[in-house]
Amino acid sequence: MKKLVAGNWKMNGGLASNRALLDALGPVSGVNVLVCVPYPYLAQAQQRDPAIALGAQDVCEYAAGAYTGEVSAAMLREFGCSYAIVGHSERRALFGEDDSMVGRKASAALAAGVTPIVCVGETLAERDAGRVMDVIGAQLAAVLDALGPEAMGRIVLAYEPVWAIGTGRSATAEQAGDAHGAIRAWLQRHGVDGRAVPILYGGSVKPQNAAELFATADVDGGLIGGASLVAEDFVAICRAAA
Ligand code: G3P
Repeated sequence: MKKLVAGNWKMNGGLASNRALLDALGPVSGVNVLVCVPYPYLAQAQQRDPAIALGAQDVCEYAAGAYTGEVSAAMLREFGCSYAIVGHSERRALFGEDDSMVGRKASAALAAGVTPIVCVGETLAERDAGRVMDVIGAQLAAVLDALGPEAMGRIVLAYEPVWAIGTGRSATAEQAGDAHGAIRAWLQRHGVDGRAVPILYGGSVKPQNAAELFATADVDGGLIGGASLVAEDFVAICRAAA
């Protein structure tokens, strides 16, 4: 399976800087490359190299209607999005998204033909308490409740240890491999074809650590934050996944 490397621009960018970044990105042989941009820039991002997939960073759990400020999966599809990040830890922590809402958002995305990249991961306190799979298992169970085993086999997962996001302190390859392996085993135990579900690693991926992380069993690519805003770094990370 080709690895997927997704750039999560978060709430960053501007028309001029986006243009420079998008112009600097092109296909990387042997890797699927994706950029997830803020909603206002979806139209501009449609002018990117078509070999680069386009995604969003969130999606509404509802299909349409009186939900002021929200953006539906069908709208994302119309703007050429094939993916949407769902349940990022920043949305869970800062915007009150709980596990069941994340499941509903994943369901809404799939219903419109948008592949959800569902984020799971533990805080440092939860890791130190030995509760990594307690936390991730609850996050996965909510998605399974919303989707069922067959549809869950059609999503992408991203393991993003909260303590590694934006800190410069990535999980080690061993930590990432352990978590990804446990997630894959959880999927199999719950009737989901775990081999079909790509599991990306996110959390301080840089050109310096990408190759080791991507060479780790069960790591099927990366979800890249800060480094995705620097063209040469993001390209280097994509090449490390080839
Ligand atoms: O969604 C990816 C993001 O949370 C990781 O951020 O800056 O640690 O690569 P960063």
